[in-house]
Amino acid sequence: MLCIGIESTAHTLGVGIFDGKRMLANEKDMYRPKKGGIHPRMAADHHAEVFGEVLRRAIAKARVEPKEIDLVAYARGPGLGPCLKVGLAGAMALASRLGVKLVPVNHCSAHVEIGALYCKMKDPLVLYVSGGNTQIVTREQKNRTRGYHAMGETLDIGVGNLIDVFARSLDGEFAHGSVVEKLALGGKYLPMPYTVKGMNMTFSGLLTDATKQLGGHDRKDVCFSLQETAFSMLTEATERALTLTRKKEVLACGGVAQNKRLCEMLKLMAREHGARFATSPAEFNADNGAMIAYTGLLARRHAMDWRRTDVNAKWRLDEAVI
Ligand code: ATP
Ligand code: FE2
Repeated sequence: MLCIGIESTAHTLGVGIFDGKRMLANEKDMYRPKKGGIHPRMAADHHAEVFGEVLRRAIAKARVEPKEIDLVAYARGPGLGPCLKVGLAGAMALASRLGVKLVPVNHCSAHVEIGALYCKMKDPLVLYVSGGNTQIVTREQKNRTRGYHAMGETLDIGVGNLIDVFARSLDGEFAHGSVVEKLALGGKYLPMPYTVKGMNMTFSGLLTDATKQLGGHDRKDVCFSLQETAFSMLTEATERALTLTRKKEVLACGGVAQNKRLCEMLKLMAREHGARFATSPAEFNADNGAMIAYTGLLARRHAMDWRRTDVNAKWRLDEAVI
């Protein structure tokens, strides 16, 4: 069965194609503001502009005929409303033209499912860390239905958001976690606020403090300390969940899971509990259409007529089933 997946929740317009368990294409185009964060309307305009081109590239790369496509999957949420609507409009047009059904996919569940597939994990404890989301998650299987349980999460901003907003005070260019990761190499530790409440955490106090410390310290040391503090908080909360669930696999996914220092901490922690640690390939930690296509195949019994579809900007992972 051939499924085409449309991703448009935030800065990336992605189109991926999956055939059963094989990825045939994963094309994308990212909106990069010159300064500041993502402006939802401008990101949506970007997605509308590049949609046709990215779709053409994906179909050419997969070497399939459009009429061979059996199903269209789209990211229904969570994300930025205007961006989601552009993705849905494109997916609706595609489904009506091809005469196939549309299946709504939860963006967060797609990061989890594609990670489990590529890391060959059956029952992982998942740390999902991105710009908008920070959650410790388990998959719950009941007969043929799979749901998700959030054991812990951020009580304010996502850890990626913490890093991005902080990075914008470093320079005016497009801010990203990889810039902070490079600057942090070889830094020294400065004390910063550390807030873990059970399996939940908060990051806004850390953001305020780290931004203030930029005024009086070497930025290398501030970047290092911000990472050490935030990632230790994530590792502590994940360890608590691992102790409770006694799972044997720990999976990190989402944009921030590309960070080597975070993965190093999680790997050490997992090893102490006799669990295997892995992170999704970078291609799937960043936003992409292939994970939507793959999860669309898993969730195909929820496929519907394109006229009945909608978006949900606040669709939580623990409300999704596949
Ligand atoms: P989601 O809807 O899953 O929240 P998103 O909009 O945050 O998606 P992603 O591509 O999943 O998009 O993640 C982007 C985030 O990952 C950004 O906050 C970015 O700074 C962060 N990131 C990327 N690379 C690194 C890195 N090397 N270290 C730390 N953070 C990183
Ligand atoms: Fe994402």
